[in-house]
Amino acid sequence: MQILTDFSLKNYNTFGIEAKAKEFVSVHNQAELKEVLIQFPSSKKFILGGGSNMLLTKDIDALVIHVDLKGKKIIDENDDFVWVEAQAGENWHEFVLWTIDQDFGGLENLSLIPGNVGTTPIQNIGAYGVEMKDSFVLCEAMHIETTENLIFTKEKCRFGYRESIFKNEVKDEFIILSVVFKLTKRNHQLNTSYGAIDTELAKNGILQPTIKDVSDAVIAIRKSKLPDPKELGNSGSFFKNPVILKADYDKIKVKFPEMPSYTVSETEVKVPAGWLIEQAGFKGKRFGDAGIHQFQALVLVNYGKATGKEIYTLSKTIQQTVFEQYGISIEAEVNII
Ligand code: EPU
Repeated sequence: MQILTDFSLKNYNTFGIEAKAKEFVSVHNQAELKEVLIQFPSSKKFILGGGSNMLLTKDIDALVIHVDLKGKKIIDENDDFVWVEAQAGENWHEFVLWTIDQDFGGLENLSLIPGNVGTTPIQNIGAYGVEMKDSFVLCEAMHIETTENLIFTKEKCRFGYRESIFKNEVKDEFIILSVVFKLTKRNHQLNTSYGAIDTELAKNGILQPTIKDVSDAVIAIRKSKLPDPKELGNSGSFFKNPVILKADYDKIKVKFPEMPSYTVSETEVKVPAGWLIEQAGFKGKRFGDAGIHQFQALVLVNYGKATGKEIYTLSKTIQQTVFEQYGISIEAEVNII
């Protein structure tokens, strides 16, 4: 294990922002992780996974611990289900493809989401009508101060829309080591209700899709709308879709009858932030090297040399303009560092 100093994080964040870590170490197993935590008890620590959900606006004045734990395996199964465990440092999409190769169902709608397995529970990643929590069983995590391992069951994780206990009550206290998912071996519960998936399958003449077909459809849709971080720096959706009171929505809709919404509960609706941002005139706009993606207004992009501060400033301008026009606050989904 080597502690590096003044280490560039450009290749460790999908926005491709140039920022430095005061100290940086990659750990490849639990023993190494424990050793680092014990060796540097009083150092400020910053835990880094796939770097796909953060915006670095400054250098990190801390010991950055890159969690690079690898491995995936079947830990239990019966005729209908299989329980698989993946280590935190596994690339999410490669893990999803591995489950699909074996015809294990449940994660197909979550294909091609950037990031690592260990960070998926933190914000309960979701796409095309499915959330990670739907297949999640538990995760194991190490307490940063005591180095003790703890199991977080699904109930304990308190998952919500892009929310969990790891963003709230125990924020920055634990390092997720591994995650267990329960997947189907037969009678797969396909979720193709999300409009674009059905359309994509129909386009290819697929009437009875397999989980691989659904994954392929999701990959095609994502590729058509969302920029590949390897080509254009980004962090997926920069903002969350705001959830507002239905009563407020009904009032706003009088002025903006086209505004879409999805029912959340009897009293609440979710409004697509992408629509609000597009209507506010930002879609496809570029300010220096910071911009708003041309096909999906929820995604902010780095055309090359944007600083984290420039992207942050753009995000604030967008939030303010949307608020002035619609009276709706949109919140960042990515972690601003
Ligand atoms: N829309 C626009 N203009 C845009 C983008 C969206 O008008 O530029 C409107 C349209 O009305 C469209 C609706 O928003 O019908 C929904 O758009 P889309 O299907 O692209 O989904 P989203 O709500 O914008 C969410 C997730 C994405 C996920 C997609 C698909 C959030 C914050 N984002 O986006 O997640 O892939 O649904 O399920 O919930 C991510 O979290 O990084 C991410 C990409």
